[in-house]
Amino acid sequence: MLFIPVFILLGAVAAARGTAKRDNSSLVVTKVPDYVRPYVVRAYTLDGVRIGSQVYRFPVTGPSSDNAFTLISTAAPASSELGVLPHIHQAHYENFYALRGRFALWASKDNTTAGRIFTPGDYGAVPPNTTHSFQILEPFTEMVGVIQPGGFEDLFYFLASANYSSQTYAPFPQGNFTSPGGDAETISKLQKFDVWAQLQFSPPMDFDANGTSGDEGAVWHNGINELASDSATPFFVANGYGRKTLTPASADNASYAVVEPFITATQSEGNFTEGTITLSRLPSSSQPQAWKLPGHTALEVVDGLVGVKVDGYEEELNLSVGDVVFVPAETTWSFWGEAAFSKVLYVGQGRDTVDARLREQGSEWGSVVWPA
Ligand SMILES: *[C@@H]1O[C@H](CO)[C@@H](O)[C@H](O)[C@H]1NC(C)=O
Ligand SMILES: *[C@@H]1O[C@H](CO)[C@@H](O)[C@H](O)[C@H]1NC(C)=O
Ligand SMILES: *[C@@H]1O[C@H](CO)[C@@H](O)[C@H](O)[C@H]1NC(C)=O
Ligand SMILES: *[C@@H]1O[C@H](CO)[C@@H](O)[C@H](O)[C@H]1NC(C)=O
Ligand SMILES: *[C@@H]1O[C@H](CO)[C@@H](O)[C@H](O)[C@H]1NC(C)=O
Ligand SMILES: *[C@@H]1O[C@H](CO)[C@@H](O)[C@H](O)[C@H]1NC(C)=O
Ligand SMILES: *[C@@H]1O[C@H](CO)[C@@H](O)[C@H](O)[C@H]1NC(C)=O
Ligand SMILES: *[C@@H]1O[C@H](CO)[C@@H](O)[C@H](O)[C@H]1NC(C)=O
Ligand SMILES: *[C@@H]1O[C@H](CO)[C@@H](O)[C@H](O)[C@H]1NC(C)=O
Repeated sequence: MLFIPVFILLGAVAAARGTAKRDNSSLVVTKVPDYVRPYVVRAYTLDGVRIGSQVYRFPVTGPSSDNAFTLISTAAPASSELGVLPHIHQAHYENFYALRGRFALWASKDNTTAGRIFTPGDYGAVPPNTTHSFQILEPFTEMVGVIQPGGFEDLFYFLASANYSSQTYAPFPQGNFTSPGGDAETISKLQKFDVWAQLQFSPPMDFDANGTSGDEGAVWHNGINELASDSATPFFVANGYGRKTLTPASADNASYAVVEPFITATQSEGNFTEGTITLSRLPSSSQPQAWKLPGHTALEVVDGLVGVKVDGYEEELNLSVGDVVFVPAETTWSFWGEAAFSKVLYVGQGRDTVDARLREQGSEWGSVVWPA
């Protein structure tokens, strides 16, 4: 009988704020929806699958994004072996972002092989038909992957050694698990998942002092990294060493956004965009910019604390590192910095995306922070 007053109260609040249509359920879910709707998932609260010692979780899936893209989190301890045997995808564009720890990533195409040691904030793009592999190097490493189009998680369900869930939200379990990389026979049978084994590829292990191998002496953590000028060439962007723009991030220009793109329409043929947005704190007297975009958007917080409000949901949420918000196309929403320094990894469907608009409104900016 308590329901009636509660509903009346909620209705009154919604009316007071002028919300057109509201869903009384929470934005926060612990299971990713199998249809397109707005949602938030908190870091490590999703069930995942274990492959050897690695735990894979999927904050955005083919079904939750109408196959726009899949967002993968791989949490794992260090390993003395490759995390996966070398392979290519013929149709999927894959990306690697270091959230925690350290790992090596190799990408090889058109007779050019490049290995890089990744530390947090580093990024690598692996376009279709690029041979690639990785190795996890620190006791707690987390890779964030974007794969376009969506639905690629099916491969990991197929490969799983076990399902993984944890009441304590442990990022991964303890134990002596088998090599995560899999065996040559298994990886050679995965063509139906767009995995084509490249077992002849031997990743160069001779990293130089700056963390490059294969193309030793390439710019890595010691100069500007340009994005590839086409959709076929692999490339890397060290944390903060990409080109950036500065944009006001509130209606009265009281807060700032520094956008560092990794994937623009040029690299994805207009299929998606990806990169980071660094946010200053929004003063309590200011309104964040409101967004309504033609494609789906996902943000994963990678630093600080980020506020989010989605039209139709009463709650304002604070998202911390590893939390993800997914916002469907044509939904009005806003996000803003709650900590002094916050940063999100964004993924947008199509070419008219949050970052594309911010960059259009912004101007070139040579720093990873906003004006003092
Ligand atoms: C939310 O609750 C209000 C008041 O009870 C109701 O009118 C509305 O239909 C509900 N909305 C949804 C999406 O369930
Ligand atoms: C990748 O290579 C395969 C086989 O050569 C080819 O059919 C496919 O079109 C290539 N994919 C892209 C995106 O170029
Ligand atoms: C790669 O090297 C082989 C052997 O030297 C050569 O035949 C081929 O044309 C090269 N491919 C490209 C894309 O440069
Ligand atoms: C994981 O759970 C699903 C659904 O219950 C089940 O179909 C699948 O076999 C499980 N996978 C493993 C590796 O146990
Ligand atoms: C893992 O293996 C090592 C060496 O074989 C052994 O000392 C250790 O106790 C094992 N740890 C677990 C959790 O089984
Ligand atoms: C590593 O980077 C430094 C600058 O930070 C540069 O002076 C040096 O030549 C680089 N080393 C290699 C092997 O590229
Ligand atoms: C905020 O910045 C935008 C873009 O630079 C500009 O068009 C607008 O006039 C500014 N608004 C205020 C209130 O300064
Ligand atoms: C973009 O999407 C189209 C249609 O799905 C696909 O054919 C193309 O290969 C994609 N481009 C890239 C660079 O992934
Ligand atoms: C979000 O964090 C800010 C800063 O710590 C705090 O003032 C605010 O109340 C929080 N909002 C929610 C909804 O928890």
